[in-house]
Amino acid sequence: MQSKNLYIATFGCQMNVNDSERIVTMLQELGYRTTEHLREGDLVLFNTCTVRGGAEDKVHQHLANLKSLKKKRPGTLIGIAGCVAQQEGDRLLADYPWLDLVVGTHNLHLLPEMVREAEAGRRRSETDFLENDTRLDLFPAIAGYRKVSAFVTVMQGCDNFCSYCIVPYVRGREISRRFDEILREVRELASQGVREVVLLGQNVNSYGMKGEGEPPFSELVREVARVPEVARIRFVTSHPKDMSPELIACFGDIPKLCGALHLPAQSGNNRILAAMNRGYSRERYLETVRALRAVRPDIKFTGDMIVGFPAETEAEFEETLSLMEEVRYFDLFSFVYSPRPGTKAAELADDLSKEVKLERLDRLQKLQSIHSRVHNESYTGTIQQVLVEGPAKREGQVMGRCDSGRIVNLAGSPELIGCLVNVRIVEGYANSLLGELL
Ligand code: SAH
Ligand code: SF4
Ligand code: F3S
Repeated sequence: MQSKNLYIATFGCQMNVNDSERIVTMLQELGYRTTEHLREGDLVLFNTCTVRGGAEDKVHQHLANLKSLKKKRPGTLIGIAGCVAQQEGDRLLADYPWLDLVVGTHNLHLLPEMVREAEAGRRRSETDFLENDTRLDLFPAIAGYRKVSAFVTVMQGCDNFCSYCIVPYVRGREISRRFDEILREVRELASQGVREVVLLGQNVNSYGMKGEGEPPFSELVREVARVPEVARIRFVTSHPKDMSPELIACFGDIPKLCGALHLPAQSGNNRILAAMNRGYSRERYLETVRALRAVRPDIKFTGDMIVGFPAETEAEFEETLSLMEEVRYFDLFSFVYSPRPGTKAAELADDLSKEVKLERLDRLQKLQSIHSRVHNESYTGTIQQVLVEGPAKREGQVMGRCDSGRIVNLAGSPELIGCLVNVRIVEGYANSLLGELL
């Protein structure tokens, strides 16, 4: 089979990263090998995100720019996958005549067939939601894995309908994958050398809650921990309202479960949380944080915050800052509220000026950078277990992560890849740590 080049650009969350990995696997069977260079692509795919207006605008810019590529190399096939594909559907084929295929978030298993048709000159768009749970198994796991850390999708979609969020509309209803199917994939990855498993979903901790008859998420974590080759477990993203006592207990008695949790609060003010439809109060969020610290004192929290939600007052925003002071996040992803079509919040007047929103974002980020720096500096002189993942950017060094997920660079040879090693941290930088092997 003649080898062809696939250029794939991935935007958005880990779901998209994981989907892109699976796309690469599926298209290998059609003879496609990945290239880093857009100009070399025989097939150019954009796996897209629409969570904020800026992300969506970027996709349209890229699509407009591809017109000249198609003119220069008419044989190049161009496709759009992911959440913008799901949101816009057929319209994209009409708006961009140089586009060959549009594949939505439930239809990735159709991609090989669609690419073959595109090669034969037929344009196609597939963005219907599938109603049943078979789709999670329609779609191959990642074959021939050569990584130390791997994602394993456990559920997809979201039923929470936070008032600002477009994800439920572009990923569809919440569906949990079958328990035994997940474990089969974990065991297979482990047998191929994977040492860290990251359980993945829009809302992993509501796994099994929707009446599919699967055991709860805490049981899944316990079963994955029983796979001997698996040294570390992480999961993302958890919803604060679904942090059950059973799942909290896992952090106390499963050493393989890393002491790091992404637990997005979105705001520290109760009126805003209610308007966001988040399903918890500031007090309950902080109780959950305390309960987790009680069973795992060194647990590190990361989170997401939105500033400038409609009608957010200065006093309400300051409660977000005070929540940050209480939690002391390790890292925080912060965003200016962006109205999204079809969501409840988009009907509210987006009444704050751009200046006010940006000023709040700036204050929040300055506070967070202090907290992150204090966390990083506190590592200096400590001994950390590091799972070595691969070569570092600097020659003669390898990179890995400590339990918290922080990147550690250290002098060492590639034989260390896949090993858990003890490392003394000699310096903490803004985004990484420097260590030496013990
Ligand atoms: N399922 C995950 C991820 C959702 S999207 C979760 O619930 O946490 C990632 C983050 O984008 C959200 O946590 C939120 O902080 C942010 N986000 C989502 N919609 C947004 C919007 N309309 N404007 C600004 N930020 C938004
Ligand atoms: Fe969006 Fe809320 Fe679902 Fe997260 S939980 S994906 S923020 S609707
Ligand atoms: Fe973006 Fe879709 Fe993820 S909108 S954040 S890529 S689910």
